[in-house]
Amino acid sequence: MDGVKAAYDEIADWYEREFQPLPGLYRQLGDLLGSGTGLCLEIGCGTGAHAETVRSLGWTPIGLDLSTKMLGYANGRLPVARANAEHLPFADDSLPAVVSVMVHTDMPGYPAVLREVRRVLRPGGVFVHVGVHPCFCGHFADRADPASIVITPGYHDGSWTKKSWTDQGVRNRVGAAHWPAHQLLNAFPEAGLTLERFGEGDEPTPITFSVRARKQCTGGHREPVAAA
Ligand SMILES: C[S@@+](CC[C@H](N)C(=O)[O-])C[C@H]1O[C@@H](n2cnc3c(N)ncnc32)[C@H](O)[C@@H]1O
Repeated sequence: MDGVKAAYDEIADWYEREFQPLPGLYRQLGDLLGSGTGLCLEIGCGTGAHAETVRSLGWTPIGLDLSTKMLGYANGRLPVARANAEHLPFADDSLPAVVSVMVHTDMPGYPAVLREVRRVLRPGGVFVHVGVHPCFCGHFADRADPASIVITPGYHDGSWTKKSWTDQGVRNRVGAAHWPAHQLLNAFPEAGLTLERFGEGDEPTPITFSVRARKQCTGGHREPVAAA
């Protein structure tokens, strides 16, 4: 492929064996995606942990990921392909639904990924993003005490970092890109996706932030807007 490093190859066994997805993730994904039929592509599907949620809503899940080892575990949970989400191997206007769960902090090229999502979605197609909360998670947030998250300077620094409040998680292993809230939210309309609905998950301070967006049907068609 295009030489993009699959950091998750190194940690796929640990991820499958020990990593516990947040329980609220399934509910947020289900609430925003809703029921439907036809193909639903998960970009960065990893080990396929969300295939069952997608299937239970009536959709037919398919997945893609950069990491061969993560896909080794996903195989059997949903049909998968190895690909870079910045170059989706699908025709224009071909998919009714796309989801991305806990991946934008692994994708420094997330704006390009969103443009690809818009390209492959059918007019009227739905895109659901569920990711870590941009305000309360990152190298600038110490979550060691869930009752009092400590925010340190660094929120506006979007650089890639492995700094984490724990040495037992994903981020201290593979690092993370950080998108301040305005950059993350602006990236959807800049890609030509219309924002529809939002969600926040977990108590007392949210860990996840989710978005439902849509590609407009012809008539309401909008071209991507230029970044400010
Ligand atoms: C934190 S894991 C999330 C996996 C799954 N969505 C879940 O919630 O369990 C992030 C995944 O994104 C994949 N990934 C990162 N960059 C990617 C890219 N450019 N294209 C496709 N997959 C990518 C990684 O290989 C990894 O499997």
